[in-house]
Amino acid sequence: MTLSTPLSAATARTSAPTISSLMKLALERPEIVSLAAGFVDQQSLPVEISARAAAQVLGDEPAGKAALQYGTTIGDEALRAIIVERLEVQHGVPPGTYRQAVNRTVLTTGSAQLIYLIGEALLDPGDIVIVESPTYFVFLGPLETRGARAVRTPIDGDGLRLDELERTFERLREEGSLDRVKLVYTIPEHANPTGISLAIDRRKGLLDLVRRWSETAGHRIHILEDSAYHGLSYGRPEADSLWSRDPEGESVILARTFSKTFSPGMKLGYGVLPKDLVDPVLTLKGNHDFGTSNFVQKLVRLVLANGDYDRHVERLKTVYARKRDVFVEAIERYFEPIRDRVTWTKPSGGLYVWMSLPEDVDTGFDGPLFSRCLAERVIYVPGEYAFAPEPTPPPKHHLRLSFGVPDEAALVEGARRLAEAVRVTLG
Ligand SMILES: Cc1ncc(COP(=O)(O)O)c(C=O)c1O
Repeated sequence: MTLSTPLSAATARTSAPTISSLMKLALERPEIVSLAAGFVDQQSLPVEISARAAAQVLGDEPAGKAALQYGTTIGDEALRAIIVERLEVQHGVPPGTYRQAVNRTVLTTGSAQLIYLIGEALLDPGDIVIVESPTYFVFLGPLETRGARAVRTPIDGDGLRLDELERTFERLREEGSLDRVKLVYTIPEHANPTGISLAIDRRKGLLDLVRRWSETAGHRIHILEDSAYHGLSYGRPEADSLWSRDPEGESVILARTFSKTFSPGMKLGYGVLPKDLVDPVLTLKGNHDFGTSNFVQKLVRLVLANGDYDRHVERLKTVYARKRDVFVEAIERYFEPIRDRVTWTKPSGGLYVWMSLPEDVDTGFDGPLFSRCLAERVIYVPGEYAFAPEPTPPPKHHLRLSFGVPDEAALVEGARRLAEAVRVTLG
């Protein structure tokens, strides 16, 4: 008799990750230019810096042994202190201003773990998270697992639209669901998937708006500020974080990572949490792994302290700024004949360009454009995956393009192939 495996309801309602089939495709067919992968530039990964730091961490017998031992669930205290000091420098406040935040800083296995833990700590089935339209599609997975409702709210070229967010809250109140709204999830810096940043003059308004609706709802609605691309700004200073307007830790959760600016293979991220969330998150992290790789934490602490990290980020920004320019210029050139029907973003940082086609063009895996692109040997992420399912079915006419992985020649060729596929599809 063949016995079935009865999966949990949470597993059963979770869809397979979108990107894994695209990664498999790119690996199986190396002739394809992948504008789909969210990986980082391979050539600039910090091998030498990391080798030196690893040798130093292990060079001293007692320190080496400490690094190879388990650490604590919250993470290395010296590293947490450095992170908070860097927040002070970034926001131009006197040293020590954010000292209290050190014990509210939790080191995690990538920021992916942090945002997962936030979902786990806050959400029951039926609870609501307001997300940007479009948003980081990977976060929609944990929301699905928790049985939470992801409700989208529009953005424009300056990020989250506050008038629309107000309308979204209003609509949820009218349907009697305000008591279920727990979280607003935003990516205010060089967002994945659009490359768009939240305008400075909207930042205070966003906090005020969410605080006002928290009062109306009668419970705290948190803002999850996912700034995974912090540090990768090309040619303009980084805006102050939303968190810097709430350093006492009431409602903003700041999530950051060393994946994009240093190494995704190290998989080290962190969250600076409101005080009410520190213990719940640590309890849950205890269930996950009771601590992120201690060795990686010591290594990253070292490269932050000796300046190697900052020097690396400076070099990396030059590499990505150049890739962004090469890619956007190639798009401008090859899409010129159809530019009245296609739009795209020019990001000031991060790794992504968001392209929009006429509304009747389906960019999905089963649509005409994707198969045309396979014939042309280029792939992208269909935009529909970046839209939460509510309040209306996701639009299907967008594409997420990443310039992180391909080299400059491949970016030009990828843009050429994509333009050809789009031209043929539009007829
Ligand atoms: C917006 C955003 N948040 C979080 C992550 C997770 O990154 P990691 O877990 O490597 O820190 C990513 C990775 O692509 C991302 O794009």
